[in-house]
Amino acid sequence: MSAAGAGREKTWTVLELLTWTTDYFKRAGIDSARLDAEVLLAHALETERLRLYIDYEKPVLQEERDAYRVLVQKRAQERIPVSQLLGEREFWSLGFKVTRDVLTPRPETETLVEWALSKATTDTQEGGQASEQPGDLRILDLGTGSGAIALALASELPHAALTATDLSPAALQVAAKNADELRTGERIRFLEGDLFEPVAKEEFDLIVSNPPYVAREDESSLPPELSHEPEIALFAGPDGLDVIRRLVAEAGDHLSSGGWLGIELSSEQADEVEGLLTEAGFTDVERRFDLASRARVVGARWP
Ligand SMILES: C[S@@+](CC[C@H](N)C(=O)[O-])C[C@H]1O[C@@H](n2cnc3c(N)ncnc32)[C@H](O)[C@@H]1O
Repeated sequence: MSAAGAGREKTWTVLELLTWTTDYFKRAGIDSARLDAEVLLAHALETERLRLYIDYEKPVLQEERDAYRVLVQKRAQERIPVSQLLGEREFWSLGFKVTRDVLTPRPETETLVEWALSKATTDTQEGGQASEQPGDLRILDLGTGSGAIALALASELPHAALTATDLSPAALQVAAKNADELRTGERIRFLEGDLFEPVAKEEFDLIVSNPPYVAREDESSLPPELSHEPEIALFAGPDGLDVIRRLVAEAGDHLSSGGWLGIELSSEQADEVEGLLTEAGFTDVERRFDLASRARVVGARWP
C-alpha cells in the first residue's frame, strides 16, 4: 500500500512521507515533485510549509495521512494543479481564491504588473507626475480572471480607478470575491462582456491584458494540468493571436492621448504583436522580460 495510505501499523514521519511522495510524483511526471509534496502536506497538517523542516521527525497521525492521501492521489492521478487543490494561490504577495473557473495567476504575469506600475507612476500622467486625486488614473484590465492584475494594481495605486472585465461571469464572481477579501472591492468596477463591449464609449489612461494566447495547434503538447483550467482563458485560434489582434485593433478607441496598452504574450509572439501595434498606429513599442529572460509583455503608447 502507498505511504500516504499505508496500513495502521506503520508510523510515518513528515520526512518519510515527503520522500515517498516526491518519488511518486516524479514517477507520475510532475516537475515540481518535492515542492508539491511539501505544499500539500503542509495543507493537510494545517501548518506552514517551512514548519515541515522543523518537524521532519514528527509522526503524522492517521487522519492527517488520510486527508493528505486524497490530495496526493488527485495531484498524481488526475493532475489537478496544486492551486485548485488548495483553492488559493499567491500573486504579487496577495492571497487569491482560485477555482476551476479562473486561470491560476502565474508568476510571469507579475512582469505585466511591474510594467503597468512603471507607466502608472510616470508616463500616463500629465507632466510625468504620479496621480494624486482619486480616480485621476483610469485603468482597464481586460480578461481579469481571478482579478490578479487589477487587484495587484489596486493594492499599489490607491488613487487609481479600476475597471476589470471578463467574458466569463463565473470568473467575475471569483474576482469580485477576491476584491472583497483584499478590501479593494469599492475601487474596482467589474463588468461582463466581450473585450471592449462593456466599456463601449469609455477612455482609459492605461489598458492591461493577459488575454488567452495559446495556439490551438499546441493543445496536444500542453501539460495535463492545463486541462483543469478554463478553455476560454487559454486558447485563441490556430496561432493563439485571435484575441490579441482584436485587442490591438480596438484599443486605440479606448485610450486617452498618451495612454498605454500592455499585453502579456508568449515570447514567440512578441515580434508579430509589435508589428500589429505599429500598424495600428501605436508608438513607443517596447518589451519586458520575465525572470527567465523571455519577452512576456509588449507595451505601446497611443499618440
Ligand atoms: C489568460 S486568462 C488571464 C486571467 C488573469 N488576468 C490573469 O492574468 O491571471 C484570460 C482571461 O480572459 C478572459 N477572456 C477570454 N476571451 C475574452 C474576451 N473575448 N473578452 C473578455 N474576456 C475574455 C477569460 O475568461 C480569462 O479570464
